[in-house]
Amino acid sequence: MKNINKLVIGNFTATLPIIQGGMGIGVSMSQLASAVANQGGIGVIAAAGLGLFEPDSYTNFVEANIRALKKEIKKAREKTQGILGVNIMVALSNFEDCVKTAIDEKIDIIFSGAGLPLNLPKFLAGSTHTKLVPIVSSARAADIIIKKWVGKYDYAPDAIVVEGPNAGGHLGYKPAQLADKKFSLENILVDVLEIVKPYAEKLGKKIPVIAAGGIYTGVDIKKFMRMGAAGVQMGTRFVTTVECDASDAFKRAYINASKEDICIIKSPVGMPGRAIKNNFIAQVEAGKKKPFKCPYHCIVTCDHESSPYCISLVLKNAQKGNLDHGFAFAGTNAYKADKIISVEELIKQIRAEYNAET
Ligand SMILES: Cc1cc2nc3c(=O)[nH]c(=O)nc-3n(C[C@H](O)[C@H](O)[C@H](O)COP(=O)(O)O)c2cc1C
Repeated sequence: MKNINKLVIGNFTATLPIIQGGMGIGVSMSQLASAVANQGGIGVIAAAGLGLFEPDSYTNFVEANIRALKKEIKKAREKTQGILGVNIMVALSNFEDCVKTAIDEKIDIIFSGAGLPLNLPKFLAGSTHTKLVPIVSSARAADIIIKKWVGKYDYAPDAIVVEGPNAGGHLGYKPAQLADKKFSLENILVDVLEIVKPYAEKLGKKIPVIAAGGIYTGVDIKKFMRMGAAGVQMGTRFVTTVECDASDAFKRAYINASKEDICIIKSPVGMPGRAIKNNFIAQVEAGKKKPFKCPYHCIVTCDHESSPYCISLVLKNAQKGNLDHGFAFAGTNAYKADKIISVEELIKQIRAEYNAET
């Protein structure tokens, strides 16, 4: 990109200020993350549910997850010299284990949201390689995290991602807030920038703020960077790439979706989620239950005893292309995709869109 700023997080410099958002249950694994890193962006492996793709996931869930996380980090590293991150949701029951593993494996950056990662710096235990980036949905959350980290660990976040209500997957908002302008990304980005600025000045540390949620084109990127974002995090647009780790059927669900198909579901984990409406979602909404055995309570907030289905299982089914027994998480812009292209081609398109915008 001609005049685009680089994104600097600690001692890592991304020539392309785009973070590929972590997409759980096998949507962003080593293949997608390394392809993005090879284009100068930051590629992110999502830790959630990686173990579900191991043969012993039902009998040995905890170990299978950690084994898979190590494997994916190593595989990604073999394919790129670029910047790699891991997304670890606070709500994961094995959050601590995942964080320790990612740090041991010398991952460059940990991104952590879906709850407040209040104790994240504790796990660095002297390591200076890995950078820590919370994902927040409000300035208040950013404030609480910075205060806590600085007060208790003498460590300020290396960057902050602010994720607005148009994102895909689980959302850190109440359903009523999703369409309320007060909570738009444009508004919360400004609030977060304001909260962060005095901390960064006082501490003498750069804390770049990164915008996420509904950012799809180079034009969107320019808009948010002009507003003060140091970069963007994008998930949805990376799904319809050759390298995205989900099945072709999952990607085609995006391509076949129309605007009206993008809906909000009430996830068993207690948060709203954005997904592509299909027959499975319609059946659940009509009160149908999809009985399941919970081998491991994988998300702390999941109401697995009364939930009509297992969120991990249905997302795994979707990842594998079995959309009769699952559904695809997706951002508001998912319907815009019309074909599957390589990450290289996608980045070319985004650069062209960015450069054409005056
Ligand atoms: C299929 C899918 C899965 C996702 N899974 C996760 C996840 O495991 N953890 C997380 O923090 N965010 C997750 N997200 C959010 C993305 O990391 C990213 O912030 C978001 O998608 C940005 O909005 P966009 O999709 O409009 O670009 C997911 C998003 C999608 C579309």
